[in-house]
Amino acid sequence: MFLKLAVIAAFCCTNVLANFTSYQGYKIYEFTAENAIQQKTLEILAQNEAYDFFTLPRIFGLPIRVLVAPADQLQFQQTLETSQIAYTIVNENFGQSVEVERKLNSMYPKQRNAAPGSISFNVYQRYDAIAAYLEELSKTYSSRVKVTSIGDSYEKRQLHAITITNGDGVANKNVILMDAGIHAREWIAPAAALYVIQQLVENYEQNSHLLTNYVWIVVPLLNPDGYEYSHTRERMWRKTRKPVTKFCAGTDGNRNFDFHWGEVGASNSACADTFRGPTAFSEPETQALRNLMHSLTGRAKFYLTLHSYGNYLLYPWGYTSALPENWHDIDDIASAGAAAIKTATGTEYTVGSSTNVLYAAAGGSDDYALGKARIPISITMELPSAGQQFDPPLSKIEELVSETWIGIKAMAEKVIEKY
Ligand code: ARG
Ligand code: ZN
Repeated sequence: MFLKLAVIAAFCCTNVLANFTSYQGYKIYEFTAENAIQQKTLEILAQNEAYDFFTLPRIFGLPIRVLVAPADQLQFQQTLETSQIAYTIVNENFGQSVEVERKLNSMYPKQRNAAPGSISFNVYQRYDAIAAYLEELSKTYSSRVKVTSIGDSYEKRQLHAITITNGDGVANKNVILMDAGIHAREWIAPAAALYVIQQLVENYEQNSHLLTNYVWIVVPLLNPDGYEYSHTRERMWRKTRKPVTKFCAGTDGNRNFDFHWGEVGASNSACADTFRGPTAFSEPETQALRNLMHSLTGRAKFYLTLHSYGNYLLYPWGYTSALPENWHDIDDIASAGAAAIKTATGTEYTVGSSTNVLYAAAGGSDDYALGKARIPISITMELPSAGQQFDPPLSKIEELVSETWIGIKAMAEKVIEKY
């Protein structure tokens, strides 16, 4: 116990003191669990904050990736060897990959397309560029687009929501609610949300059927503080940025919702990556989304939250292995998304309840949407990584977000038809 605390303290303080984490010599390991004993060993290992498990699926044979700092590598390898888990090292120096990505991503000074009112998908856009794009859309397409702020982040960035309609002025239509970027480091998620926005607004002619009886409300970047921090300071930052203790900042937004809060799969340690927060809804970002959800009660039929990575379409519950009453309906929608993507590109997604196919984790926005805000179809989409790093290389962003759109569109069409 004491040892573990000491490890956490040492880990957190180096991170806090250094203003930039270089990840020099960090390695990414890949392996699979082939049986229940190995799975159990890995679940215990994952509780050690020194090991950053990028994925930890419940299904045997699916790839598991872990980022490990140089000082912890020997022990990590020994533990795997003792458990007869064969591993490969898929990245020998994560620091170098991060540096390459950072350089490429800043090569486009304005990170924007030349054409006004448009946005490019050849870089991961920063907060300011995203805000400017939304602003331009609201001016250029003022009859169909409205941009509002649903609150401020801890560091006082506006949390933008874009409401997209067909401009016919009919009030109180049903709503499809989407968000992305609650987890800072999952850069492909906000990119995918921006692509959805672009398709619905700038490619309206082809997508107007998605707006006849429905309104779309999209929050493309729910955790802008963490997102900016992951761009400038610490690539693998996941949480919000509000300080918790003297040494550690940030709450896992997707453990912070007040529905079976903290019951399982969430840490009560402020330094942990899955910290549930000092209280439920301690974060302005999760409060803002909660309020938005409740303002749409009865109208919102589909809530979709974008994450990365792992190719999953997950649905409640995350807090228990039991299934929601209407799981069959949700499974139908998610399966339609998976099938559309498979047909279009061959990419496969695993469909199922969070607890049953990934891991149990309470306090997620998806559970809250169904359990408390009563949005009947609630889905978490874990996008692909398409590489050895966390997010796809810049050259693959466009391909990936357009593939994602195929799945989202298929799910939306099915929701619209059924509800
Ligand atoms: N990777 C996501 C997370 O850890 C999955 C969330 C699934 N939903 C849930 N309620 N556990 O936040
Ligand atoms: Zn996530």
